Amino acid sequence: MAIDIAIRIGGEGGEGVISSGDFLMQSAARAGFEVMTFKSFPAEIKGGYALSQVRFSDEKILSQGDGFDIVVCFNEEAYQINKRLLQPGKVLVYDGPGEFEIEPHAGVACYAIPMSHIAKSELGAYISKNMVAMGAVCELFGFPVESLKRSIHDKFIKKSQAVVDQNYAALDAGATYVRDHYGKDPTYSFPAARAAKNVIIVDGNQAIALGATTAGCRYLGAYPITPATSVGIYASKLFPKGDGYVYQAEDEIAGIASTIGASFAGTKAMTCTSGPGIDLKSEMVGLAAMAEIPVVIADIQRGGPSTGMPTQHEQSDLFICAHAAHGDTPRAVIAASNVEDCFYRTIDAFNLAEKYQMPVFLLSDAALSLQVEAMARPDLAKIKIVDRLRYKADGNGERYQRYKVTASGISPMSHPGDRGGTYCATGLQHQENSAPRTSADVCVTMNDKRWRKLDNLEAEIECATEGAAKAKVGIISWGLTQNAVREAMVRMRTEGMEVAALYPKLLFPVPVKAIEVFAARCTTLLLPEANYQGQFAQLIRAATGIDCVRQNIYRGEPFIPKEIIARVKELYA
Ligand code: COA
Repeated sequence: MAIDIAIRIGGEGGEGVISSGDFLMQSAARAGFEVMTFKSFPAEIKGGYALSQVRFSDEKILSQGDGFDIVVCFNEEAYQINKRLLQPGKVLVYDGPGEFEIEPHAGVACYAIPMSHIAKSELGAYISKNMVAMGAVCELFGFPVESLKRSIHDKFIKKSQAVVDQNYAALDAGATYVRDHYGKDPTYSFPAARAAKNVIIVDGNQAIALGATTAGCRYLGAYPITPATSVGIYASKLFPKGDGYVYQAEDEIAGIASTIGASFAGTKAMTCTSGPGIDLKSEMVGLAAMAEIPVVIADIQRGGPSTGMPTQHEQSDLFICAHAAHGDTPRAVIAASNVEDCFYRTIDAFNLAEKYQMPVFLLSDAALSLQVEAMARPDLAKIKIVDRLRYKADGNGERYQRYKVTASGISPMSHPGDRGGTYCATGLQHQENSAPRTSADVCVTMNDKRWRKLDNLEAEIECATEGAAKAKVGIISWGLTQNAVREAMVRMRTEGMEVAALYPKLLFPVPVKAIEVFAARCTTLLLPEANYQGQFAQLIRAATGIDCVRQNIYRGEPFIPKEIIARVKELYA
């Protein structure tokens, strides 16, 4: 029987909400199910509402879905936040009886499990409350408990065998309570494990680090910042296995400056940060563009402005990535939409940076950074890796022209130590041989040369599209929002609606041709994005004159499919 079940766990930061969701996800993936997670937690280390949701299915999961089927509430706050979503057919598992009162919920199966009491009084370890709850979940819904135990072992053995045993005991206690008081839930049950697929289970930030490694990146220089830090942490495990190096810099500027230096010296290099870090790195973006040094800058967006909401989703750094740095600074901006995309778009970012010798931004976001998916194991033989055009002395004694004017704007690059390849990498306006010069003809020629590199970018990374050849409503979306749109499209097309969708990966320069062709197919264009200003809608309008109906959310959470469907239906008549 096909399954599609979403379990949400809510509780206080510090109560092990995130670990519980991770255990469920790992166990289900190991048991052969498709999985996708959504996590949201406060910026505090302890306290505040934390949420972890795992969606399981037999089929490819396109988005986090519209909500949950089963909610496990570790405390009253979690119940209060989620109770309005408890419609008939859903299941509530909560800490009780006696911890807090719940209201009557018609058609909702409610299971009180004394999580706190069992953990404190019977097991003498309050921290294992989450595993009492997970034991109850396994027993109620037939979740593969042996697989869950393996996940518990793998995580907690680093603490000690006693911690592992304590958690096994908590699992058993939760399961025993359900057997003694309820039995199996009649609505939701997990089928037996199936053959494991050839997948790797990673989150968005891990996929970026894997993509960078695959692209040939051997240097990452960054300053820790939520939610980007784990790109560097994972890279620091991967890179040293080869000849790579991760440098935890003293600040954001040093992070990108060292990255530009590494690239100048001949190593594919990247930095990663979040919005506040882009503010600080801006001047260095200009240096990379002017000195024509390839560099990839991963921006894992978070809620802004200022320090804003460090752990919450927003798509509001598009303007700064498209415009960071003063003067006329060429760059490209690419956005990833899901975990697999984080891997492949990172490779695209390196390929563009290397080919065009310029800064390339890769946009992800807080929700995607933590989202875990089972992605198909990449076939490395099929992945195209592009390296920069290198200088080779031709032996005729001519002086090396680092910034030689070419039809494509790309000039051969030498590395320190290359015979005859000495030049000065400079942020000053310069002539072909790299010597500083500000004459009018040099200014015009060199600006034209640098900007010419953007002419063909649209052809390098094509937009995907789907839907009706003539659509009443066409949806343009970017980043994580594309997942909700993809699922919305499946549902709307099942209803026979004439809708279409365009999924740009390159956001800057705006893919003008693709947007114009798509606009000609559609009566009305809708552009949902998780920012206040309608940043991509504004860039599209500036580049094409085309106006999209804007659907903007800025509540710290990603779009869900049903709110996009609702807006399309309003426009559809
Ligand atoms: N037995 C033993 N230990 C357990 C356990 C159990 N049953 N369940 C959880 N734990 C441990 C976890 O291992 C973890 O410890 P570790 O970090 O040493 O591994 C700890 O308890 C917290 O559990 P976890 O499930 O990871 O998180 P949580 O759901 O309790 O939420 C966070 C805590 C994630 C919200 C919080 O710690 C955090 O990181 N907040 C964000 C901080 C941030 O980035 N701020 C922004 C700064 S700009």
